[in-house]
Amino acid sequence: MNEPDRDLEDPVEEHRALHETESRIAIAGHPLHAMLVAFPIALTMSVLGADLLFWWTADTFWARVAGWASFGAFLMGVIAGITGTIELLLVRGIRNRSASWTHFILAVMLLSLMGMNWAWRIGDHVEAVLPLGLILSLTAAVLTAITGWHGGKLVFDYQIGTRQPK
Ligand code: HEM
Repeated sequence: MNEPDRDLEDPVEEHRALHETESRIAIAGHPLHAMLVAFPIALTMSVLGADLLFWWTADTFWARVAGWASFGAFLMGVIAGITGTIELLLVRGIRNRSASWTHFILAVMLLSLMGMNWAWRIGDHVEAVLPLGLILSLTAAVLTAITGWHGGKLVFDYQIGTRQPK
């Protein structure tokens, strides 16, 4: 059995340029994407909350809240997504890590769901809630949790978006 004469190389570890993962869409080094994602996350959870409250109380106020919150979630999600996508395409170390693309795919599925949840409510926001509105809200909330958790993984596990030591 021949022993390899040197350790296996990790192309990401070996290639210095791939360490460039620092955010460029940032204010004083703080990524805009990380600042913006709080809005779609909170608003998506709010749509689910409002739908459940409408189901429980039958108060149409909650159906109206859900309609507006679903619009806000989609709008802010798209804006956050644009900052993330520019980052992904612009920064070599982000672009070269497959985890970034996994996050992108999750996010695009989530944004489609957010858009569907809003569009479904246009016209009659009361009739739209049960059952399909609630099902869309629940699915969007679960996918938001997965996408948000995965976004955190990019930063805390892979240091994506952070400045690497020279
Ligand atoms: C549509 C395309 C998207 C792309 C390409 C993208 C890309 C990225 C990238 C590159 C990062 C690393 C930090 C940075 O460089 O800013 C990140 C972090 C993150 N993303 Fe996204 N993202 C997208 C959409 C979303 C959406 C819709 C959500 C909402 C659920 C989300 C949630 C997060 C979270 C929570 C973090 C961690 C932020 C932190 O803790 O600092 N992303 N994303």
